[in-house]
Amino acid sequence: MSKRTLNEIANAIIGGYRGVLAADESTATIGKRFAMFGVDNNEENRRAYRELLVTTKDAADHVGGVIFCEETLGQRTKDGRTFIELLQEEGVAAGIKVDKGIQPMPFAPGESITEGLDGLRQRLDGYAKRGVEFAKWRAVIDIAPGLPSDLCLRANAEALARYAALCQEAGIVPIVAPEVLMDGDHGLDRCYEISRHTLAFVFEALYEHRVALEGILLKPNMVIPGKKARDQSTTEDIADATVRLMKQSVPPAVPGIVFLSGGQSEAEATANLNAINVRHKNLPWKLSFSYGRALQQSALRAWSGKAANVQAGQSAFALRAKLNALAARGAYSPAMEP
Ligand code: G3H
Repeated sequence: MSKRTLNEIANAIIGGYRGVLAADESTATIGKRFAMFGVDNNEENRRAYRELLVTTKDAADHVGGVIFCEETLGQRTKDGRTFIELLQEEGVAAGIKVDKGIQPMPFAPGESITEGLDGLRQRLDGYAKRGVEFAKWRAVIDIAPGLPSDLCLRANAEALARYAALCQEAGIVPIVAPEVLMDGDHGLDRCYEISRHTLAFVFEALYEHRVALEGILLKPNMVIPGKKARDQSTTEDIADATVRLMKQSVPPAVPGIVFLSGGQSEAEATANLNAINVRHKNLPWKLSFSYGRALQQSALRAWSGKAANVQAGQSAFALRAKLNALAARGAYSPAMEP
């Protein structure tokens, strides 16, 4: 079989109203999630939990790609298959988080820069040989009084673009993930303004680095007020502001925009994605999901680290995957929630 083009891979991941499962939490981050349900953060528990997710029956109808971290990529199911093999059998693309996390930016108090470019070309080469078809790199932008600075936005956009170019050179679709955080008490308008500024830097850098937009997926935040904002917006306002931002910022050559959930509850993230797709038709890109917490929270709770609960965990995950795929086509209703 001839190798798929970057555009074919990107379209396959989000085709049929599917989205992406972000199961790429670092050891430290999954430890925080496990701790909420009293699960020990050891290698076997991490393996067993990711096996629960990738062996969920029928999830492949709703999830076209799964992002792993390095550790999971090397792990196997109980019956000895690698997670990549298992996904390939189901027609699901395997992805890898390749950034090395965030570090404080020098001379930019309160701001961070994502690291991980050194040696990335060699790592990507190795991943491609193992059957990995897409990757993720996340830049983190904080909103605070006077922040973010243009310095932070430019440096993070440059890193995202260098990562994206290296991915494409290796035949891997880059998920470009500039995340404006929901922390803080800012309102919807400020999130819009900062996200607009962020995406302007990102697309300029992608252009400078000769990245083919047909062969990327964009993973942005929705336009949403900070968690501590006094006025919380309606689902409709979030949907309209988010689509307005995308129209202002994202060229039509990009095949798909897969939102992150960023701390929204499971039901909120689904309802917001649904409103986006109900209220806005005939857009140039597909609008879908690449959720971590909003796909996993109830599954993790149902499983709670116990082998006897695997089926309950899988039912919870299957339900969230299905509801989000319905939201990607604008066919979800809150009445479908358990
Ligand atoms: O980079 C962020 C994650 O891949 C998505 O996680 O949906 O929990 O924000 P989230």
